[in-house]
Amino acid sequence: MCGIFGYIGDKDAEKVITEGLKRLEYRGYDSWGIAVKKDDKIHIHKKIGEIGDVEEIKQLPGAFVGIGHTRWATHGGVTKNNAHPHFSTDMSFVVAQNGIVENFQELKSMLEEKGFKFETQTDTEVIVRLIELKLRDIKELREAARLAFLDLKGRNTIIILEQNTDHIIAIRNGSPLVAGISADRKEYFLASDILSFAHHTDQVVFMNDYQMVEIKDRKLSLFEVENGNEIEYKIQKVEPGEVNIDKEGHEHFMIKEIIEQQYTIKEATNYTKDELAELVEALKSAKNVYTVGAGTAGYAAGQIAYYLRKIAKLNAVELKSYEMESYKDLIGEGDIMIAISQSGETADTIEALEFTKKNGAKIASIVNMMGSTTTRMSDYKFYSRSGPEICVASTKAFTAQVSWGYLLANAVVDKFEEAKANIAKVSESLQNYFTEELFEQIKSLVDRIKDQEHFFVLGRGMNYYVSLEGALKVKEITYKHFEGFAAGELKHGVIALVDKGTPVFCIVSDDEVKNDMVSAAAEVNARGAFTVGIGDNPKQAFFEDFIEAPQAGDLSPITNVIPFQLISYFLGVVLGNNIDKPRNLAKSVTVK
Ligand code: G6P
Repeated sequence: MCGIFGYIGDKDAEKVITEGLKRLEYRGYDSWGIAVKKDDKIHIHKKIGEIGDVEEIKQLPGAFVGIGHTRWATHGGVTKNNAHPHFSTDMSFVVAQNGIVENFQELKSMLEEKGFKFETQTDTEVIVRLIELKLRDIKELREAARLAFLDLKGRNTIIILEQNTDHIIAIRNGSPLVAGISADRKEYFLASDILSFAHHTDQVVFMNDYQMVEIKDRKLSLFEVENGNEIEYKIQKVEPGEVNIDKEGHEHFMIKEIIEQQYTIKEATNYTKDELAELVEALKSAKNVYTVGAGTAGYAAGQIAYYLRKIAKLNAVELKSYEMESYKDLIGEGDIMIAISQSGETADTIEALEFTKKNGAKIASIVNMMGSTTTRMSDYKFYSRSGPEICVASTKAFTAQVSWGYLLANAVVDKFEEAKANIAKVSESLQNYFTEELFEQIKSLVDRIKDQEHFFVLGRGMNYYVSLEGALKVKEITYKHFEGFAAGELKHGVIALVDKGTPVFCIVSDDEVKNDMVSAAAEVNARGAFTVGIGDNPKQAFFEDFIEAPQAGDLSPITNVIPFQLISYFLGVVLGNNIDKPRNLAKSVTVK
């Protein structure tokens, strides 16, 4: 959600920034803008919609310093005027922002009273005018920006380009910001993630909240926002595997990422028993164990809590990071919160972790993006190591998280080696799973259902979360109404929605609830539903179609979710939708 990019170097700034913004596209945006400094003037180019071909964008050539922004509208509609960066009144600096200024109304009224005029509906403009106000007393832009930032409420990261010198300032709180430095120290990058500049340098400086970075006179300096004191920083090297962005011959990132799951479920569990030991011991002695996440990661949190209960016999409770209100006074010392997140930057999840930490509980996390806020807040840190997930709809991150949770739960009851072997087996079966024959079967199913608007997915036991995640996946890419339910809910209401021809997907594994699941499927079938089975349990006669998933035992949630990912993909393609960037959605939801 919103992306920030800044550059100072010896290359064409417009090109570097546009490329950077394109690599941030996955975060979700509806408009974008670039500001570069040339001939001692700041030039801005803004547009609504997608960025387009980097080679064709030649609005502002010949500049070597600039900033860029992809905007996901919050305050004010999607207009060119509201797109960032925003000019100061005297056009001496521009600001781009990622976040929400929660006290924006209050600040706006105060600034209007002081005579400031507003030309956009954005909360960003409030930041610009606030800096201008501070500049009335303090002449230095860095100091004025620091003081203005201290007046802002909410999670905000801002980047500022100044006209007079080759000067970029950025301040971080909540929304991500990372700096990159080229090996020859001639180029500097500031961005919302390392992926956006990883093709230029692998040397990065991770920043914490309430830190301010300044690039001036070809030097990077870091300051505390609180007092303006300069602080030391460490330059870290990132591994190429963590930043490689390439479709590798596939038409979309989504299908590439779906297929990669055969390996990523193993990578995510590439931990030794010793590496898990500390967390395992902490879980065994914990008062309460919670798992938390949002969206797909929230469903993974549900699945992991399920494993911790079923396999590890721990009374684990799954929480939604945006529904923590009633737990605020319950979570405390002796408790463990396991955070699940692809990006590690989800605002709701970070907020949940903030009060978890404040209350004295310990935090464990499984995150995909290196150097994220969630990881840095954690006492026990784990990476799902799935490589960049670019498609907004999460696939390989989900199965990696589930795989890690399965290993963790087994490690608690001393079944580490057995769990590892099972994961390896499933990984092997998946290596033969993505065949043309399977794709053809799914395409032909898609052809039969593509004109329907309402679909239901039923799951039970370990497949309950698959029904939710499977339905979410199809919703995200196809914009069709797919709803996942616990099969047990059927008779309590859902069955009223089932009519002749209503497509109902039933997830059937060879497990202890299979008979109940088959009965539920039979009941909807008897009411004329178009029933499709998914799972490793042999086809029932009444299924119109059965998509077989590899035998996976307790790891079936991984293998059973894959057919839904494929249905989502192929149905999205048939409908002509934007597969990797579905409408309205953002990959990383960094505002509440
Ligand atoms: C957004 C994404 C989802 C993701 C969720 C949580 O809604 O579109 O794919 O599951 O945020 O993100 P996280 O980065 O914390 O996993």
